This record gives sequence, C-alpha cells and structure tokens, in this order.
Amino acid sequence: MGARITGTGSYLPSNLVSNEQLESLVDTSNEWIVQRTGIRSRHLLDEAEIPSDMGVEAGRLALKAAKVAPEDVDLLLVATTFPDMICPGSAPFIAEGLSLTDAPFFDLKAGCSGFVYGVAVANGLIESGLFPRVLVVGVEALSRVTDWTDRRTCVLFGDGAGAVLLEPGAQSSGVLGTALYGDAEKSMFLHLPAGGTRTPASVETVTQGGHFLKMEGSGVFRNAAPMMEKATMVALENAKLELSDVDWIIPHQANKRIVDALVHRLDVPEERIIVNLDRVANTSTASIPIALDEEIRSGKIHPGDIIVMTAFGAGVTYGAIVVKA
Ligand code: COA
Repeated sequence: MGARITGTGSYLPSNLVSNEQLESLVDTSNEWIVQRTGIRSRHLLDEAEIPSDMGVEAGRLALKAAKVAPEDVDLLLVATTFPDMICPGSAPFIAEGLSLTDAPFFDLKAGCSGFVYGVAVANGLIESGLFPRVLVVGVEALSRVTDWTDRRTCVLFGDGAGAVLLEPGAQSSGVLGTALYGDAEKSMFLHLPAGGTRTPASVETVTQGGHFLKMEGSGVFRNAAPMMEKATMVALENAKLELSDVDWIIPHQANKRIVDALVHRLDVPEERIIVNLDRVANTSTASIPIALDEEIRSGKIHPGDIIVMTAFGAGVTYGAIVVKA
C-alpha cells in the first residue's frame, strides 16, 4: 500500500505587501526585485497573528477536503524551520488548534525541503502500517526572522502554510517515488546564528542581529537548480517513470531564475511548471503545498495527473517526490 493525497489546504495571511511598499523600508526597487527574483508581492503576518494558526487553517481545509474528522488523524507531521517556540515547536499548537485527540505529533526541520521530506517520511510510515492517516503541514513565518533592514534578504520571503492528508491507497496511485538528499558541507548557506543552544540569546546576540536569518544568496543560487534536477531524475527513476510522463512540476518557489534554470536543465515545456512565487514569494516549507492546493482547487491539476514536487533549502537539504493526484 502506498500513500495517496486525499485532501489539500492552504492559508495565506490577508496582509499583501507589494515590492513598492518595501521601497520605503530598504534601498531597493520593484524593477530590481522583479528582474532578479520574479517576485511582485508577498503575504505577511500582522504582529498579533500567531504563525501556527496558519498551519491550523491549512490543516483544517485539508481534512475538510478529504472528509476526514480530526479524531481520525493518526499522526500530525509539521514541517517548519522556524517554529512558534524552539520548545515545544509548532506541532502541539497545531494539534490543539485542530482538536486532534491523542494523535502523536512532531516537528520536522529540513529547511525549505521540509514538505518534500515530510511527505516522503509520511509515505514510509503509511507503507509500514504504523500510521494509516498522516496530516502533513508545511508552515513558515519567515517575516518573524527576517532583518527588515537587509535588502539582500527581506525582499525574498513571505508567510503561509499548506497541508495534505495522506491515506493508504493502491500501489499505482499516490506517492510513486521519492529521493531525499543532504549536503552538510553547505550548512551555513542559510542559518540563524543565535537563540539555539550553541549561542543562546543574549543582549549581545540581539544587538548583533543574531536572531535574523543569514543567507549566502549566490551559493544557494548556484546549487539549487542542479540539486532539484538530480532529485527529480532519481525520484522519477524510483517511480519507473520518464520526464515525458510528468504533467506538472512544482518546484520550491524561491526565485523565478532558479525555476527557469531548472526548466532549462530538465528541458521540459514551461507550461508544465507551476509558479506562484510572483504573488506569494518564498514561503519556505509552505511553498509547495500552497501551490499544490491552489492548482487542485483551480482545476488545473486533475485526478490521475503525475506531479513532481522538488525542493532545496537550509541544511542544505534537497529532494523530490513523484505523486499521482
Ligand atoms: N535591491 C537592490 N539591490 C540589491 C538588493 C535589493 N533587494 N539585494 C541585493 N542588491 C544588490 C547587492 O547589494 C549587489 O550590489 P553591489 O554589486 O553593489 O554589491 C547587487 O544587488 C547584486 O547582488 P547579487 O547578490 O550579486 O545579486 P544576484 O543577482 O545574485 O541576486 C539573489 C541575489 C538573493 C536574488 C540571488 O542570489 C538568489 O535568489 N539567491 C537564492 C536565494 C534563495 O533562494 N534563498 C532561499 C533558499 S530556500
């Protein structure tokens, strides 16, 4: 038995922020941001909003779409890089918000690849028979770890959440192939220096901005497309499929130039690539499930379509999953 996606959901905060609005915060321009990234706007949480509430709403919609009651969920797996609190994470808050009864929950931290990792892990757990119904939520509030005075990073990110419910299905449907990788030599490409146990938060770390995300943009940029290409090809091989069998590719929504480089490397028609980063920017581990949910609800993705979802992110982690809708 493989795992089948039986419901999807997503949530974006109502506060839509344009590139022009960022021009008043840092020395940037709409033209620069669009040309270098393809991003035009992003949804950002207001100060009073709680990040995990986005995951609750996405999860609620996924359960509703699958017509499954919260008490029938066997495991909640929350992919997030920046949880509500380092301890106890985000999963307990989402479990509470969804009124899950007794179901185990945990956070999975794999950077922007978290959702792809999460679905692969959930698939293994379902195949083993350990947990038949797994709710995978990808949720990220990058605005809360962004240095809003740093133009190199603050224009790139958005907030949001996406979720899928996975249930046992026939071997020929659902998750058909996976490929997960790590490259620990590149661990400092994306990191948040302070506030963990290596460098606990102090007045000094806050003064130095150690609680903000740091990024080696060009390093990430150079590696992202080759990594997603490799993961895509291996996941397809594991699924015993060819690129020509694929109806849709949903890459991690980080930068349109990275997506274009992937399209070029794979040599696939651009119409088969799903892109929403122009509207929502990079929502990290939430980016793929948001795009998936949007296009299932819009009717673009049909039951039976073959979808490749591929991501890269902090760690460096990368991977791909092949799914039959
Ligand atoms: N507005 C205007 N100028 C900016 C800017 C902004 N928002 N951000 C950077 N610049 C400037 C730089 O300061 C630099 O100026 P300088 O030459 O005077 O020093 C110039 O633009 C070029 O910077 P560079 O970093 O070479 O630009 P780039 O073409 O590599 O694009 C990124 C930068 C961040 C868009 C690109 O590297 C990228 O997308 N990397 C991947 C990021 C990513 O995906 N992160 C998430 C991973 S999950």
